[in-house]
Amino acid sequence: MTKRNLISVLDMKDDMPELVDLAIKLKAERGNHDAPLKGKTLAMIFEKPSTRTRISFDVAITELGGHALYLDSSNMHMGKHGETVEDTSKVMSRFVHGIMYRAYDYKVMDRLGEATTVPVISGLDNLEHPCQALADMVTIKEKKGGFRGRKLVYLGDGNNVCNSLLYASAIMGIDMIACCPATRMPNAEIMLNASRIADANGSKIVASHEPEVACADADVLYTDTWISMGDDTSKEAALKLFQMYQINNGLLSLAKPDCIVMHCLPAHRGEEITAEVMDGPQSVVFDQAENRLHAQKAVLYTLLR
Ligand code: CP
Ligand code: NVA
Repeated sequence: MTKRNLISVLDMKDDMPELVDLAIKLKAERGNHDAPLKGKTLAMIFEKPSTRTRISFDVAITELGGHALYLDSSNMHMGKHGETVEDTSKVMSRFVHGIMYRAYDYKVMDRLGEATTVPVISGLDNLEHPCQALADMVTIKEKKGGFRGRKLVYLGDGNNVCNSLLYASAIMGIDMIACCPATRMPNAEIMLNASRIADANGSKIVASHEPEVACADADVLYTDTWISMGDDTSKEAALKLFQMYQINNGLLSLAKPDCIVMHCLPAHRGEEITAEVMDGPQSVVFDQAENRLHAQKAVLYTLLR
């Protein structure tokens, strides 16, 4: 079997609905898995900090019978001391059955993905966060019963999380509005590609700079930090630029009464989301975080078996 990577949401374009359903099944079966990944090792390379991605991948592979190896990239030779990314890739392919990588630069992610003979799974880079988007689709299916006709409004910085959500929404048939300042729109190529996929699917992907218009009748409001890891925007500038995109009770009151609020976490209460909303009855952020575990089990089961 040829190896498969999961670096962009597009890498699961044809099987995202099955992965969502498998995640829901594995969630229901938690504690009763046999060991489908017995003897398999997942190496996890981190260039940036993580709470959810690190813990959920480690627990996911452990519960499927395998083993995780945490690697802090600052203590590796990859890309330095004369060892190319490709050399590291080839060596690691001899030791482990899969590599999860959290990278600063998507170009290095792509190089790793090209050079390994084992699957590379992105744990986030500066362009996308595909495993987050898969877990988000699991959460939306659980909370909203499906995708078609649901309206998701992403507010704030058009970052990696937003880019992956655009693809995931387009693939699953959600109508999505990326509501961001003109200077912080999602990646233009991803926006265009996602709109084309949505067109072919009978759904809509659009941009907006008007939160009050965008949030009307929304089923899901979603936000993320205004300053991503590796982004040198000052806090002062971000507070000014993004203020009107904050998810607060005012914006939430414009959405449908049963609208859910999502955030990939870590969250900054008082910035992209108020404490009232984050800790309020419409917030599903901790179910969403838990679903990282189940979604990644589905990914590991599919790619590493
Ligand atoms: N949402 C997410 O990826 O969180 P971590 O940075 O804690 O992994
Ligand atoms: N957009 C954020 C997501 C963190 C999980 C970042 O890249 O830092």
